[in-house]
Amino acid sequence: MSERTCLAVVLAAGEGTRMRSSLPKVLHPVGGLPLIGHVVRSVAAAGSDNVAVVVGPDQDAVAQAARAEVPGASVFVQTERLGTAHAVLAARDALAAGHDDLVIVFGDTPFVSPEAIAALRRLIADGAAVAVGGMRPADPTGYGRLIMDGERLVAIREDKDTTPEERTIGFCNGGLMAMSGALALDILDAIGTDNVQSEHYLPDAVAIANDRGLTVSAIEIDEAQVFGINTRGHLATAEARFQAARRTAAMAGGATLVAPETVFFSHDTQIGQDVVIEPNVVIGPGVTIEDGATIRAFCHLEGARVAGGAVIGPFARLRPGANIGADARVGNFCEIKNADVHEAAKINHLTYVGDADIGARANIGAGTITCNYDGSSKFRTIIGENAFIGSNSALVAPVTIGRGAYVGSGSVITKDVPDDALAVGRGRQVTKPEWAAKNRAKSVSKKA
Ligand code: UD1
Ligand code: CA
Repeated sequence: MSERTCLAVVLAAGEGTRMRSSLPKVLHPVGGLPLIGHVVRSVAAAGSDNVAVVVGPDQDAVAQAARAEVPGASVFVQTERLGTAHAVLAARDALAAGHDDLVIVFGDTPFVSPEAIAALRRLIADGAAVAVGGMRPADPTGYGRLIMDGERLVAIREDKDTTPEERTIGFCNGGLMAMSGALALDILDAIGTDNVQSEHYLPDAVAIANDRGLTVSAIEIDEAQVFGINTRGHLATAEARFQAARRTAAMAGGATLVAPETVFFSHDTQIGQDVVIEPNVVIGPGVTIEDGATIRAFCHLEGARVAGGAVIGPFARLRPGANIGADARVGNFCEIKNADVHEAAKINHLTYVGDADIGARANIGAGTITCNYDGSSKFRTIIGENAFIGSNSALVAPVTIGRGAYVGSGSVITKDVPDDALAVGRGRQVTKPEWAAKNRAKSVSKKA
């Protein structure tokens, strides 16, 4: 198919009223990626030479989300929402450039697959003027119905325009359409507004092409691939389906998920072989867990890398820039942000490490805090290999603790500590023999 050129138009100008949200519908995330991001990724993967995104007025954020995935996407604004055909025509300049195939995809169908798009393009290559992706949802209410005459698709009737008889049809418009690039503008320009909603319906392209004696084809696509999100309920269903697929893929790749239904992935999560993930783990965007790492129960990770043999948690939080080396340990109630934790270093209990470099095999005692922020700027803490930080120490950055150095428990360290030195920064202990006993005796005699 690569010899045929293709323009993909992604419609994303709808108001998404049914979401009841101040955020445009297509910016709601599934697996941490906006719906529109999923869609433009798929159309690009299907081999579209050009991607055009149609957005509503003041929807720069939608355009940006699309361009984050496909930087070359062109953006067109539909100033008035007059229907799906009207929206396609907002990209008239892109259509006029002349492509062999035109593919139209809705921005609210995140699971549209490159294979489904390719199947529709094949129908156009075989001579169809219009090709429609049909589906058989459990409940057809709300969808356009495909009116078939044997193998031939005669028309699409929107739910609101159906007769009671048409309403019983289970074969529905999945919203995915391909058209011959040479004929598309002519057909789209002929679409009127003679329907209950007085909108320019894209599905009317089917009846118009038929009237002109052109070939119109429909194929059935798995409902899961054209699942459209109109409500928060649909969004939750999409998230559940996405997570189920990711869990299956992680396990197929050789990871153990002890309780798969309690582990949550992002669209870009990378999980190696022999990774073990215990129950109740949430993984945000930008996380890589390498072969043989273990994530124990109740951890939250985002923007982090965990190398092989490292053990995280239980109850640990890795924030963006946490880079955990091989065989390192990050234990309960530890938070790591923007820090390189080198091989076999141990940060086992109740610790905050931010903007830091922790040398290999260093031991960070319970309750250690890197004081990285002075209220306006952030500073780095450098801890050398094999250093030992005693419990309950505050390391006031910028500060460097040398290799093999030792910090006494309860220290507040404000100056650099040389390699192999001992630093103690705390009040000296004062011990007064018999003081407590004498004090007790004094209060007894007072009462008498
Ligand atoms: C649409 C189809 C219906 C199909 C269903 C599948 C039409 C008229 N109906 O209905 O046959 O069964 O999808 O999910 O096409 N949009 C614009 N500008 C507009 C209107 C819509 O850009 O003026 C965009 C929306 O952002 C959305 C897409 O087009 O991404 C579809 O619009 P939506 O209102 O969700 O259509 P449905 O009612 O779902
Ligand atoms: Ca929809």
